[in-house]
Amino acid sequence: MTDLKLFCAPVQGHTDHAYRMIHSEVYGPADAYFTPFIRVEKGELRRRDVADFTASREAGLPVVAQVIFRDADELNILLSGLTAAGADEIDLNMGCPFPLQTARGRGAATIGNRKLMEDVKRCVAAFPDVRFSMKIRLGMTSPDEWRETIDIINRLPLTHLTVHPRVARQQYGGTPDMDAFRSIFTEARVPVVYNGDLRTPADAADTDGAFPGLEGLMFGRGLLGRPSLLQEIREGEEMAHEERVERMMDFHSRLFDHYSALLCGESQVLSKIKPFWEYAEEEIGRKPWKAIRKAGTMPKYLSAVATI
Ligand SMILES: Cc1cc2nc3c(=O)[nH]c(=O)nc-3n(C[C@H](O)[C@H](O)[C@H](O)COP(=O)(O)O)c2cc1C
Repeated sequence: MTDLKLFCAPVQGHTDHAYRMIHSEVYGPADAYFTPFIRVEKGELRRRDVADFTASREAGLPVVAQVIFRDADELNILLSGLTAAGADEIDLNMGCPFPLQTARGRGAATIGNRKLMEDVKRCVAAFPDVRFSMKIRLGMTSPDEWRETIDIINRLPLTHLTVHPRVARQQYGGTPDMDAFRSIFTEARVPVVYNGDLRTPADAADTDGAFPGLEGLMFGRGLLGRPSLLQEIREGEEMAHEERVERMMDFHSRLFDHYSALLCGESQVLSKIKPFWEYAEEEIGRKPWKAIRKAGTMPKYLSAVATI
């Protein structure tokens, strides 16, 4: 297991600089943390997205900036802006299923677009010092859309291709299509990383066993719900549930302290901190999990957390 790269997935609204920093302090760093997608707004990069990336970079974390784009113009703006901010590794998001992005031709809407994929090839060639990776889904509605562009993807200088084997229409529901993943794994000529529904060390071991030669695994909701997961996989030993929860309480209290110092007002802190528990129902139990979700005030939130 240990030679697999273990990546923290980008999850908008969750995996920001504070999360990355505190996660690496408590559990040891992931092999890389991918930023939530950075996009062009009014012709330029959003300043707070760049600041979120550079904060991790300056803290010495293994952070990769992820970009989402609909054409060569947007991609060029993003690559120029991020390299100016010091990025030497950039991930190309061609899999986001959010309708706000796909309706504008970004994310999963790009995977079947041969012209755009050729443009991507030209754009990345202009940045020879940057390492590029790509994250895809199977397609918008059909699990075969990736076939339209895989020959071009195979000619891109990618460190790896992360595949989340769902179509955009599924969003995050249903089950990952492992047959489709196997087809991509077989046809890809670049290293492949698997992403999707990995929640336990056993899930990771099963995936590793089923796909010899896999470059790595990427964890999103599973890691948010069980932040010790990468450490457990790396050490080859599952942590006892009690210890996991104890460490998780420490992790969350550090996040809480960080955001309490940073944000103004109880409701801002609550709306930032409550989502960090969103995927932890299995770890902390249904009752505390529901109480945290329902908590509308700080005292209610704190007493809900105390029941864990
Ligand atoms: C709320 C939310 C926000 C996400 N934001 C991003 C994003 O910014 N970029 C990206 O590539 N994927 C994003 N994803 C997808 C995850 O990175 C990952 O591919 C997906 O959750 C499947 O993996 P998992 O089952 O391990 O969570 C997001 C997922 C969720 C649920």
